[in-house]
Amino acid sequence: MAELLDDLNSLERDGLDALADASDAEGLESWRIAYLGAKGRLKQAMGSLGAVPREQKPAVGKRLNEVKQSLEAAFEGRKSELGGSGPAKRLGPAIDLTEPGLAPPVGRRHVITRVRDELYDVFGRMGFEVATGPELEDDEHNFLKLNIPEEHPARDPIDNFYVDDPATTERPRMLRSQTSTVQIRVMETRRPPLKVIAPGRVYRPDTVDATHSFMFHQIEGLFVDRNVTMVDLKTTLFQFARAYFGEEAEIRLVPSYFPFTEPSAEFYMKIRLRPDQPARWIELGGCGMVDPAVFEAVGYDPEEWTGFAFGFGIERIAMGKYSIPDIRMLFENDVRFLSQL
Ligand code: DAH
Repeated sequence: MAELLDDLNSLERDGLDALADASDAEGLESWRIAYLGAKGRLKQAMGSLGAVPREQKPAVGKRLNEVKQSLEAAFEGRKSELGGSGPAKRLGPAIDLTEPGLAPPVGRRHVITRVRDELYDVFGRMGFEVATGPELEDDEHNFLKLNIPEEHPARDPIDNFYVDDPATTERPRMLRSQTSTVQIRVMETRRPPLKVIAPGRVYRPDTVDATHSFMFHQIEGLFVDRNVTMVDLKTTLFQFARAYFGEEAEIRLVPSYFPFTEPSAEFYMKIRLRPDQPARWIELGGCGMVDPAVFEAVGYDPEEWTGFAFGFGIERIAMGKYSIPDIRMLFENDVRFLSQL
């Protein structure tokens, strides 16, 4: 009997050792077949119980049961350590490759940036290059060289964001109130002929409402050459309107006054700001023939050179193009709004 009990002890020891060596689901399954399977070592040991003398049966049977429980418990423990057993091991959650995928959220450029780039494109095809100038300007570029003299009401501190006190500073700095400053900067550094557009931010202490903001964007245009006329201006603006808003675009020039152009006009387009309302005449900005005083300020001979200029609000253009009823929507950065454009 001692021999038989020894056999059971070594069966248990072998089994536990081999189980510790099983390192994956496959090894675990082979072990299960070898020890606990229908033809495994435990079953064989049980089979030999029949040959054990009667009086020894209870002791051997008891030990056999202990070994069986010990091996089964060890198997369950190892199985949960290794995360499952058996040939049908799952490799993670089932994936249905026929399901439509989830589109990842994709960012986009802000509508103002996009309109600006579209304007580069339209004016670029008409031969305009892009120029830029600083947002922090001095009154020489924002006013003086644009033929807006010292005593002009447009220079009133109440209507401008001065950085230096204009009462005590000789050349006070300010946040530019218009992109016309870039006309001066370009002409100071280059000789004609030239054809540029200049987009950028401008600042005015306006009360914010559906059509006004203290910061907005303008796009300036300047064309200087010999024999430029008002017909060139109107043709250019009409081409722009049709190229950007479509064949049906309607424009209107209304006589006006700006110190830096003579003659001057306001530029209107028939625009639909709300999809549910009819198109209305909206002023996009000003334009005109460059005033000889401006050419003199930058050292161009006004007898030789002629030119036209314009300056439009980019927000107004965007609102017309995309039927946006309120300028504030362009600055609130509400993704629910922006993601529709
Ligand atoms: N700078 C003007 C404004 O902000 C708009 C403007 C008018 C620009 C006439 C021009 C122009 O270039 O010729 O109101």
